[in-house]
Amino acid sequence: MGKLVNLSDLLVHEPLAGKSGIGHTRWATHGAPNEINAHPHRAGPVAVVHNGIVENYKDLRARLAAAGQTPESDTDTETVAMLTQLHLNAGKSPVEAARATIDELEGAFALAFLFDGEEDLMVAARKGSPLAIGHGEGEMYVGSDAIALAPMTNRITYLEEGDFAVLTRTSLEVRDLTGARVTREMRKISMDAARVDKGGHRHFMAKEIAEQPSVLSDTLNAYLTDSGIALPDPGIDFAALDRLTITACGTAYLAGFTAKYWFEQIARLPVEVDVASEFRYREPPITPNTAALFISQSGETADTLAALRYCKGKASALYSVVNVPESSIARESDLALPIHAGVEIGVASTKAFTCQLTVLLLLALKAAEDRGHLPPAARDEILTHLRALPGVFNTALGRDEVIENVAQELAEARDILFLGRGLMYPLAHEGALKLKEISYIHAEAYASGELKHGPIALIDQHVPVVVLAPRDRLFDKTVSNMQEVMARGGRVVLITDAAGAESAGAEAWRVIQMPEVSDLLAPILYALPAQLLAYHTAVAKGTDVDQPRNLAKSVTVE
Ligand code: F6R
Repeated sequence: MGKLVNLSDLLVHEPLAGKSGIGHTRWATHGAPNEINAHPHRAGPVAVVHNGIVENYKDLRARLAAAGQTPESDTDTETVAMLTQLHLNAGKSPVEAARATIDELEGAFALAFLFDGEEDLMVAARKGSPLAIGHGEGEMYVGSDAIALAPMTNRITYLEEGDFAVLTRTSLEVRDLTGARVTREMRKISMDAARVDKGGHRHFMAKEIAEQPSVLSDTLNAYLTDSGIALPDPGIDFAALDRLTITACGTAYLAGFTAKYWFEQIARLPVEVDVASEFRYREPPITPNTAALFISQSGETADTLAALRYCKGKASALYSVVNVPESSIARESDLALPIHAGVEIGVASTKAFTCQLTVLLLLALKAAEDRGHLPPAARDEILTHLRALPGVFNTALGRDEVIENVAQELAEARDILFLGRGLMYPLAHEGALKLKEISYIHAEAYASGELKHGPIALIDQHVPVVVLAPRDRLFDKTVSNMQEVMARGGRVVLITDAAGAESAGAEAWRVIQMPEVSDLLAPILYALPAQLLAYHTAVAKGTDVDQPRNLAKSVTVE
């Protein structure tokens, strides 16, 4: 139970012998995270690890009970091992038994099987959850993600939906859904993925926050040429679109929510934005000339992938903004736009968010150009600001100490509200999400103007209110809302720029001052204080910043 180090410590005292092995860091779906429910699950001569959910496991349990078999754990995975044992008992070979079992499973899974007495055999299968095969020298690997295999090998074969793989130490045989033998390409992935150290920082999250000036430069360099914005082929013709639908989860969704403001304001393109878990089941009509855009750091989020598949054949094109170009979402899109953030290890997304925003803003600018709403001079001015953004981020990182001091005080709170208006409204949600996921402090976001319609009842001196408000055209309105909070005893942390601090800073409880930035770019820059506030609050509370409780980095179950 607990951290992986508990297992590695145990193995020092009780080493395991053998030439092949399987293991799995479990994110509990059925049954508590305890030792009985831990993988691998064994039934007689077969052991299984599983990522995903077996939806028909109750029926399978009933079948096993009828055959006189009683599971020991509460998991759906154990039924997979037990079913395989039944097939073995019926005289099937290990490979046939695994295949027969898989054919009976409903739901989403990535599976690996080992068999007693078969030291040179592993069976793996994929349906709904990602699976990568790593090719070593006289050794083979299976992993949910190429990054997990990066320390061992950079030669990767991605299994496709429905694939079934038989591995020995020197060979790989893949069969597709129909049972036909297929060849799946072996790719060399970038060795960047192997560099997963903290680079002198206390946490991966701190490193990833600090990396933003450099990765934002990488993102900009990938899309900006001397003549303007360049997208990879086949490009996007925004002039032909009547509507864009954006779908994603969590922080990626909030990047999409911000992009809605950009696309609508600058490009006059109507945008519908939704979380993937709702979108996929609400049967949204996709009108003609609607393109669908999906945002995902991992490119493997189950709900986002399902939303993409829903749009296949309905939307005029499927686009994705991803951090992992080899991921399922990237591979199933007509055009995948990489964000170039580099590997993100901290569970709380930081640099991927700001790189997603940057790519989305470039897309909105391209859309504005294609649709005739952006004269070259205005475009050039925005691009000049964008090129300067990494430098502005560097300056903003210098405000770390002020933010840390505010965070020490926020760490005492039980509830915190985040307010923003216009482009700062989605960011208020991101600030609240970041804070609650790593510090476990309850946080909510509201549009500043919405506060008086109910949530203002929560305000007293115990509920700090973080107001994100650069001095833009909506600043005075947000300040009025801030005053409503203060009139009720609320303590306001105002995140603003020099002009905003000068005009309204004296009234706030604390002020965090950001460097000047153009209005359009403010959501990218103001993500930084939101991230640092969450980070330092979590550190002050002593929580597990990089691996907060109950969360997984890549959510491959729905
Ligand atoms: C929050 C966070 C999550 C992810 C979400 C989607 O800090 O990281 O909310 O943004 O699980 O993940 P991806 O982007 O991999 O689809």
